[in-house]
Amino acid sequence: MAFIPRRHLLTKVFIALALVLGVKLVLSPHSSSSLEPSVFQSYNVFERVTGVNKILNVRKYKFLQGRTGRDVRKDILDDVIADGVTDYWNRFQAPLIMGKDTAHADLQNVLTAVESLLSLNGWVAAYCPTLARPFGQNKNVDEDAYDDLANDDRLYFVAMAIHSADHFLVDQLAVIVQLAKRLGTSNVFVSMLDYDSTDSTATLTDLCEAVLTLLGVSFRIRRVPGMTEDATAAYYPLEEAYMRNLALEPLLELYQKREVEFHRVIWLKGFTCPNDILETLRVSVANEAAMVCGMDWAESNGQFIFSDRWRTRDIHGDQFRQSTSSAKPDAVPPRDESGAARYIQHLPFQVFCCESGTHIVDPAQSYYKGLKYRCGIDFHNASSSSDSVLTRAADAPCLDSSQAWFCRDLWISNALNDFPEDEVVPTPEVQPLSRRQVPDEEPDADVNAGSDYDAMPDSDVPIDVLPAAPLSVPNSAYTPARILVNPRCVTTYAGVSHTQLALDLFGTGDDDEAQVNATKYVLEDWDGAPESFVCQEQRQTGGRKAAKTQRLLGFAIHDELR
Ligand SMILES: *[C@@H]1O[C@H](CO)[C@@H](O)[C@H](O)[C@H]1NC(C)=O
Ligand SMILES: *[C@@H]1O[C@H](CO)[C@@H](O)[C@H](O)[C@H]1NC(C)=O
Repeated sequence: MAFIPRRHLLTKVFIALALVLGVKLVLSPHSSSSLEPSVFQSYNVFERVTGVNKILNVRKYKFLQGRTGRDVRKDILDDVIADGVTDYWNRFQAPLIMGKDTAHADLQNVLTAVESLLSLNGWVAAYCPTLARPFGQNKNVDEDAYDDLANDDRLYFVAMAIHSADHFLVDQLAVIVQLAKRLGTSNVFVSMLDYDSTDSTATLTDLCEAVLTLLGVSFRIRRVPGMTEDATAAYYPLEEAYMRNLALEPLLELYQKREVEFHRVIWLKGFTCPNDILETLRVSVANEAAMVCGMDWAESNGQFIFSDRWRTRDIHGDQFRQSTSSAKPDAVPPRDESGAARYIQHLPFQVFCCESGTHIVDPAQSYYKGLKYRCGIDFHNASSSSDSVLTRAADAPCLDSSQAWFCRDLWISNALNDFPEDEVVPTPEVQPLSRRQVPDEEPDADVNAGSDYDAMPDSDVPIDVLPAAPLSVPNSAYTPARILVNPRCVTTYAGVSHTQLALDLFGTGDDDEAQVNATKYVLEDWDGAPESFVCQEQRQTGGRKAAKTQRLLGFAIHDELR
């Protein structure tokens, strides 16, 4: 383990949390379980007349902090614990809080606890500034501190879908607290969706609730049961879509009921350092990007390998390589030439699709336009039918991840702005499908080979090659969706040595800044969508680990628009 929390700090924080929880428990015993999902109130007449208060003010609007679906089933020791907490409160806490002579000391305790939480000395996030990063991303934090983002006073929506991932949750909370500190506690809304977790997530979300309450950050923490009773009868892309749409509900509700508009949505996955997220926010803003993803790295036999190959496609529609963090320049994760060249320089590069851990979405280009997460529906339910998998047409829609659907929807919805009438599109010369670049040196055994660290290895089904039908209108005729990968935003999982990974990826972090300053954030040339992509699909139920197969599938924006 690279990071060890300092116990004494945790103790202080936990005492403060006990205080907060105690107050909540005694003063409003039902507050946490009686909330319904749609608790945001519309503006009243007075608010409408006096102008809309865009700040998320939790003191003024209690409904901005909500907890739903908490597991409140009776436990054998509940009464004993409740008695103990009430007793402690009555004898040791209430007299001090109420007493005139001691009240100021109590206020001081809370303020000190808030201060400790905001600095989080000793937590994982506190080690982040010591890790190597390009362009002094970490070094100049003191002078820079991402003031540009903070001064804009924009609202940020942090979304998390948690499915039995308690080993990340405390660190993710630390990251949220750091972000709230930089961006302003009243500029951040945190939406945590606990999807049927069976580990200690329930307890840790209690902790999150207490911390966010203490800091005055608005949030909705919600727990929902699984979609199917038997996890193996579930269809994973459907679960993905369901979880994400639920996590986004407060975003849309605040938009519709209170005209609260968020600048960016930050999807937290795994562990990502706060500065890397802030850097990715800058990339997102500088490029007016629809989506910017980090890159996620998992431990594998003592090395670190790029992990989210299921959802990531380069700008030619190819899968990324399962490269190690120390890969040579000719074997880095993105296969396309320009992506690889920029990756090597630690610069953001364009892709067809990504997710790769923590990623940032512009809601104005997506959710506020009505885009939702979805998935293919004609999958085979192995639990309800003994028939083997249905035969589907060679060009049937891809039954891949909900993120892959989201990416295609971004390309298509972006193109919708271009040509309200199809006729205006000039029909250009016919282009053969085989324009994909095939490296002419030694063959890359891994190209389209179909393995994925993020899930079970595939069966080695060869890719069906699509008949090369030219597109009537090439995808390049449409405005590209701005989807980028920022290799400076590292997402990691359990077992990763952050220091070693950082050295592998960025060396000493002493890049020649002057050489790349113009391109450090902004991508100048944007390509159109690829005309085919590697479709890696789950054709049947079986939860997250259901087998995947793959084929090469055409992608024609013009056809999709019709
Ligand atoms: C598959 O079928 C089973 C049994 O009928 C059902 O409980 C389950 O919900 C189905 N799964 C999906 C994803 O529809
Ligand atoms: C890049 O940096 C150099 C030296 O620091 C500076 O003179 C130049 O104006 C910069 N270019 C851009 C496009 O910012």
